[in-house]
Amino acid sequence: MCGFTVTYQRFIKKNMNDRGRFGSKLGVVLASAGSAVGLGNIWRFPTEVGQNGGAAFILVYIVFVLFLALPVMVSEFVIGRSSGSNIVHAFRKLAPSKWWMTIGFMGVLGGFLVLSFYSVVAGWTMKYTVDAALHRISGTDPANAFDGFVTDTWEPLFYMGLFLLLTHLVVIKGIKGGIERYSKLMMPLLLLIIVILVGCSLSMPGSAEGIRFLLKPDFSKVTPHVVLSAMGQAFFSLSVGIGCLATYASYFDKDMNLAGSALNICAIDTLVAVISGFIIFPAVFSVEGVQADAGAGLVFITLPHVFSSAFSQIPLVGYVFSLLFYLLLLLAALTSSISMHEICTAFVSEHYNIARKYSATLVTLVYLVLGTACSLSFGPWKDCTLAGMTVFGWFDFATAMFIMPVGGIFISLFAGWCLKRKLLTDQLTNGGTLQVKGLRVLIFLIRWVAPLGVGMVFLNEVAKHFN
Ligand code: PHE
Repeated sequence: MCGFTVTYQRFIKKNMNDRGRFGSKLGVVLASAGSAVGLGNIWRFPTEVGQNGGAAFILVYIVFVLFLALPVMVSEFVIGRSSGSNIVHAFRKLAPSKWWMTIGFMGVLGGFLVLSFYSVVAGWTMKYTVDAALHRISGTDPANAFDGFVTDTWEPLFYMGLFLLLTHLVVIKGIKGGIERYSKLMMPLLLLIIVILVGCSLSMPGSAEGIRFLLKPDFSKVTPHVVLSAMGQAFFSLSVGIGCLATYASYFDKDMNLAGSALNICAIDTLVAVISGFIIFPAVFSVEGVQADAGAGLVFITLPHVFSSAFSQIPLVGYVFSLLFYLLLLLAALTSSISMHEICTAFVSEHYNIARKYSATLVTLVYLVLGTACSLSFGPWKDCTLAGMTVFGWFDFATAMFIMPVGGIFISLFAGWCLKRKLLTDQLTNGGTLQVKGLRVLIFLIRWVAPLGVGMVFLNEVAKHFN
């Protein structure tokens, strides 16, 4: 009995000490960029561009990525790597007061909520991938087809569960053998698909109109509200504010260049978002009568219409285009979902001293329950609302409008003001061995610009909601 206890304790200890690590710098950048590149880039960004003034919105967005999201990302990297812990324990180790752990707990809660509703939309993309492969996407009445599908009880649940299972299978394999390995496989594939899709889209007749729309800035549409929603988009798209990238950074090596990697990740994420616009708009403009500012239905309602019209002209292009497009969305969603899952898995494993595979399983089970509630809120639970919002709406609102901005403010305040200045510069320069250009500017952004800027987004969202 005693021997068993000792063996068991050793087993637990081994699992605890063996937190895992990324094996290469490329792996780090691809996994973190994988977290950032997701439905936010390919689905949400083009929608916002379409509604908010094309190139003018893109310009504003890029400014916020650089001045707001980048410093929060660097702060997360510093907190994660210097603590070598999940987001809650990171604050426990580094903070002067236990109060800061609340920000960590909020991050874990955010990780639970965000993947619960994200997996529902990811499930939809999985269904559309299967339909595209079987040539079953409705081109005649895509709005009705979409509505019929999401209001059903079982089919969306099935796809959501399948998507969560895929996420689980990657996370359970650990950092190097799971997250890094699959990111190294999926990210290049994703980039290759993007290149092919740009080719498909530009080859469609009338595509020049879409390019003109993207490149012509319409500043009249950039209202104060649009400026602020560009900030929110930058935040969501770069996965900052809930400790997701801090968790990844806890597996980084000592010699990783934190500021340089953050810059690369921002560049990849923004490039993918802009290129997604170059895939979607030329295609959308090639079909007469289809609106560029179609809103959230752009991907599931407007595009099927475009694909079917392409199919009737050149069947092979139509088929390849639709299949690869939904596959791209699915891959992007998966590389993001594993990072959300990891926030919670790392926390549960380290906080409750449970081996990784058990904590990952526990976390997946919780996701299945919460995700079910989100999925049903389009069908049978449509009328279960609180203050006019369904479960899905609440989860979306709580994370995007509250947890991420508030987390972002405190994360940058913490890195900028609570951490010792020497620790911050040591992390950024790897103990003085690295020359970081613009170090003082970066620290200024972390201390002042990011908390104030994000504070504005937050207040705007609150004000908008209560107006
Ligand atoms: N950045 C992801 C996207 O663009 C979403 C995400 C949010 C991922 C928060 C991780 C954490 O889709």
